[in-house]
Amino acid sequence: MEFSGFDARGYRTVDVRTGYGEWVTNYEQTVEDAMDIALLERLHEPSWATVTRAVDLGCGTGRTGQWLRDKGIPAVDGVDLTPEMLAVAHRRGAHDRLVEADVAASGLPDAAYDLAISSLIDEHLDDLRPLYREAWRLTTPKAPFVLVTFHPHFIMTSGMPTHYTNGAGESVAITTNIHLVSDHVRAALAAGWRLVELHEGVIDDSWLAVKPKWERFRNHPISAAYVWRKDD
Ligand SMILES: C[S@@+](CC[C@H](N)C(=O)[O-])C[C@H]1O[C@@H](n2cnc3c(N)ncnc32)[C@H](O)[C@@H]1O
Repeated sequence: MEFSGFDARGYRTVDVRTGYGEWVTNYEQTVEDAMDIALLERLHEPSWATVTRAVDLGCGTGRTGQWLRDKGIPAVDGVDLTPEMLAVAHRRGAHDRLVEADVAASGLPDAAYDLAISSLIDEHLDDLRPLYREAWRLTTPKAPFVLVTFHPHFIMTSGMPTHYTNGAGESVAITTNIHLVSDHVRAALAAGWRLVELHEGVIDDSWLAVKPKWERFRNHPISAAYVWRKDD
């Protein structure tokens, strides 16, 4: 679904590479752990300690990869479209291998990973289906695919795209698409995945402590974490 019909900000919009290439300078200071890490911590599956090699699709600066390493996963490979984000990930050192590629066609080997994860990237994709298919191709039988997403309800109700403040102090949007929950389910089922867990993160006191202006969004869902699994 097009975001433009919900846009309440009217920021100038740039593509993913341009946007993250600029946002990289303060990305880590502006992304709240409440958005993704708090949801990852709530998952019952997968059993992180049993994972031997994970693929981190849209790895950015390595926040997600670092969290996986801290959970004891010995090897994580990362894929991202933005060289500047990859350079920070490279310096962080949480990943074994970092690849500059689209998550729809990573170039990584078939069935090489017993976990795929993609955190906070899908709103930038026009079509979810190639992501779910690529995660399927990359993973071993029975592997999980964890996807953390900016909640479509929040994008619609706030009218706020994914955005950052550039060096000149301008708020700039990065191409944002709205994928409904049913879009995720349809794309995942078509690729072969089965849903085993779904959590939604809402605007609560911990969010309001960092975003006091968001009181009007109290109890609205802002992010979600899906855990998909292969049956065989
Ligand atoms: C919000 S960041 C998330 C990074 C990291 N997963 C995290 O949680 O901090 C989104 C990342 O997705 C990447 N990205 C967006 N679309 C992509 C695509 N089609 N293929 C590869 N990477 C993409 C961007 O370059 C950016 O680094």
